[in-house]
Amino acid sequence: MTPSGSGTPTKARIVVLISGAGTNLQALIEAAMATEFPGQIVAVGSNRPEAAGLQYAEQANIETFVIDHTRYSSRESFDGELIHKLENLNPDLIVLAGFMRILTDDFVRHFRGRLLNVHPSLLPKYQGLKTHARALEAGDTAHGTSIHFVTEELDGGPVIAQAQVPVLENDTDQTLGARVQAREHVLYPIIVRWFCEGRINLSEKDEVLFDGEPIPAILTLPADVYQ
Ligand code: GAR
Repeated sequence: MTPSGSGTPTKARIVVLISGAGTNLQALIEAAMATEFPGQIVAVGSNRPEAAGLQYAEQANIETFVIDHTRYSSRESFDGELIHKLENLNPDLIVLAGFMRILTDDFVRHFRGRLLNVHPSLLPKYQGLKTHARALEAGDTAHGTSIHFVTEELDGGPVIAQAQVPVLENDTDQTLGARVQAREHVLYPIIVRWFCEGRINLSEKDEVLFDGEPIPAILTLPADVYQ
């Protein structure tokens, strides 16, 4: 991120937080394996000891940690411990990848501008849970995923980029969800790359900046990127 004396750019320090399967984590690990990738995943954390995704980090020799939220009496005490752990890792970026915990305002403010999330809907539609079922129920013809900066408003932070998928006639939660996730696995590593290159920032006024300028519209990538 910042140039070092030797002329070799220092890689941004990324911590990924997960709660479950970790397929987005796996996509990020694969992307970060490229020597020219501008970020390094220094640790992967979970609030659930059984999160299957932790195995991807272990296989890639990435440090893992678990802070089991059931052992904390309040959201504040859990988040306090998580802030403490993250601060020790000195992250330039914290990537929420299926991290299914609501974070306190203190946590979000602490890491403001360094906290990204992927949400499986075309925000501002379908904040919260069961997004695929809700898109199906509403009869939507298009659905998708959003990458956004995390702010105090749950699933309401400034959206950086989205990818759309068509809703097909016989779709179920699972088939639609799988189509959305396939898009996430391409889009999230690209946005993380741009963040690590310093191309994406959050302004004081909560605008998404791309190369220093407010984005005129949510970013979308050409369809062939996903093929
Ligand atoms: C992803 O599809 C992500 O969009 C969603 O959880 C899934 C995690 O999958 N996130 C949310 O619902 C956040 N509100 P993964 O563990 O296989 O990456």
